[in-house]
Amino acid sequence: AKPEHLKIMISGAPASGKGTQCELITKKYGLVHIAAGDLLRAEIDSGSENGKQAKEYMEKGQLVPNDIVVMMVKDRLLQPDSQENGWLLDGYPRSLSQATALKEFGFRPDLFIVLEVNEEILVERVVGRRLDPVTGKIYHLKYSPPETEEIAARLTQRFDDTEEKACLELICAPIILITSQNSVIFVASVKLRLQTHRQNVEAVLSMYEDITLKVNGNLRKEDVFAQIDDALTKLFEDRKLNSGSL
Ligand code: AP5
Repeated sequence: AKPEHLKIMISGAPASGKGTQCELITKKYGLVHIAAGDLLRAEIDSGSENGKQAKEYMEKGQLVPNDIVVMMVKDRLLQPDSQENGWLLDGYPRSLSQATALKEFGFRPDLFIVLEVNEEILVERVVGRRLDPVTGKIYHLKYSPPETEEIAARLTQRFDDTEEKACLELICAPIILITSQNSVIFVASVKLRLQTHRQNVEAVLSMYEDITLKVNGNLRKEDVFAQIDDALTKLFEDRKLNSGSL
């Protein structure tokens, strides 16, 4: 790998905009985007035993057990493209044990980005999120609407944004006043993921205190990216200077 190749982690609550920022970062910096959630969804689609197990946890908004997640992420980080171009790890680690495992495998990030977003905004982002199954692009019905009618017609929702089971198990009564049946389900499901996030976030942060960049994620996606871009540009230039390529 070239010395200036960056190793970045991005963290934040569900729907805080990790995937959205990763699209912008990879476009500019050419890093390989590795999203733990995407790896798990691919495993589910493959129909494997691990995928079946993972789905059960994801439906409940809980962390998938380490014996499934850790090796999956490690193997992806070791692929030649990640080694050659640098990587952008999204949604991992989500617990102290995952952070420790990564350290033991010798992976140390240059920067740990944390997106900070208010809870009401998180819920609104989940409710409006849509995915393009053809390009993998993330849209929002209000904030990033699809460019054409054709794309609009094929947009889908993620199963854990809509999963009824999670709602029924945890009882939506306290939030039943939300406008439509669908919205009730969305809110319940994201609340579960938020709860899991809150339980683990401090421990993970403590591992990366010296390299953490806290970003105001409540702003428009371009303004969120501007904060990240500033830090990455600086890091990139420092790297080049140190390696003598400037
Ligand atoms: P994962 O897929 O990682 O989901 P998540 O953490 O819940 O995060 P999301 O993908 O929902 O949101 P995001 O932050 O990427 O936001 P996005 O850019 O889409 O994980 C799913 C599940 O897998 C977990 O619950 C767990 O079970 C399991 N899992 C994953 N990693 C694991 C691990 N390490 N260990 C164990 N289990 C694991 O944005 C959301 C919406 O908002 C979009 O519509 C977007 O267009 C919009 N938006 C984004 N930014 C802005 C903005 N600035 N302004 C306005 N709208 C915006």
